[in-house]
Amino acid sequence: MKCKSYLKKSINVGIIGMGAITDFYLKALSKNQFFNLVAVCDIDFNKINKYKGQIDLVTRDVNDVLNSKKVDAIIVNLPNDLHYKTCMKAIKKRIHVCCEKPLVKSRCQVKRLIKEAKKKNVVLQTAFHRRYNKNIYHLMKKMRNSINNHNYPISVKVRYLENIKEHCFENSWYLENTSSPVGAIFDNGPNAIDVVRYLVGDIEIYESYINHEIIGLETKAVIKARTQLIPEIEIQLDWEYQHGECKDVFVKFHDGKNCYCNMLSGFTKFKSSLFHEYIGVLNDFKKNIIQMKRIGSIENTYDISGQVVVEDISLVGSISKKTPRYPWGGNDAVAETQRE
Ligand SMILES: NC(=O)c1ccc[n+]([C@@H]2O[C@H](COP(=O)([O-])OP(=O)(O)OC[C@H]3O[C@@H](n4cnc5c(N)ncnc54)[C@H](O)[C@@H]3O)[C@@H](O)[C@H]2O)c1
Repeated sequence: MKCKSYLKKSINVGIIGMGAITDFYLKALSKNQFFNLVAVCDIDFNKINKYKGQIDLVTRDVNDVLNSKKVDAIIVNLPNDLHYKTCMKAIKKRIHVCCEKPLVKSRCQVKRLIKEAKKKNVVLQTAFHRRYNKNIYHLMKKMRNSINNHNYPISVKVRYLENIKEHCFENSWYLENTSSPVGAIFDNGPNAIDVVRYLVGDIEIYESYINHEIIGLETKAVIKARTQLIPEIEIQLDWEYQHGECKDVFVKFHDGKNCYCNMLSGFTKFKSSLFHEYIGVLNDFKKNIIQMKRIGSIENTYDISGQVVVEDISLVGSISKKTPRYPWGGNDAVAETQRE
């Protein structure tokens, strides 16, 4: 059978922002023949110098990438406050976008980006990397096998606990609390909420406990949510967890049985699970671009790209005015981690 032209042609991609997360993209790109890396951009010379002579366009100016006729798609790995402006400019130039989470900081910005992407027929995707985690995938399969007319999940708990200082450089924008939306909710919320949505579908967030009145300065949060079928969903976020990393999911079923998934199981080296997760991110980006080229329709692409999750996060923001409270203890979390 003959290959369609949109499947044969590789896509020229540029990476904007060559910081901590970029290595995982570079590794994933090296394993993905669909994408051809043609541009790298970082304001910091030290991060791009080594690519000179190897990659066509090496620049400190984002506009050089966006104005390049060669670039079909970009990966946005910039500090959070630069996502909106960069994504909007790219979309206006009909460049497909895979942007790191959190895509943007408000519902209004999400809507504007989606509207423009639909108008220009380009993919706009958030890199929710945990949904490609193999342990999450196995949990999803286990859940599907356990669900029947008489048995269904009655509660889901996701814990996303880490010490942010172990995940970024000293003096990083993560710790500055300036213009970039940061904090446990903006930083970890998107992945944790996306995992829940991936497993159980749309959720309604009805309550939250946050340890700072100003969103962006919180380091701990507990978010309560539900679906039509599942009354109890809890998402725990911690940015100053002192016991390493704990990223897991507990599912309780009506028949009394439980499913447990440690996202980091099998990945003993710090951050090593990200390698296979970003292969998944790029595979989805490829799938979405092909779909866009093939049917010109974008509804499904937006579903896959999980835009609504970003809206969930702004929803969380809107309930942050509730009395700050932190209802669970660090020791409790450690004890539960041993359960696997
Ligand atoms: N580090 C992680 O573990 C991780 C995991 C998942 C998602 N993310 C997301 O990835 C994004 C990037 O995070 P990071 O940890 O790689 O941050 P980082 O600070 O390590 O990298 C950001 C890079 O952007 C560059 N930059 C800043 N302003 C620029 C500009 N105007 N033009 C060009 N380059 C500019 C910086 O020099 C830096 O190299 C964030 O949205 C973050 O939430 C990070």
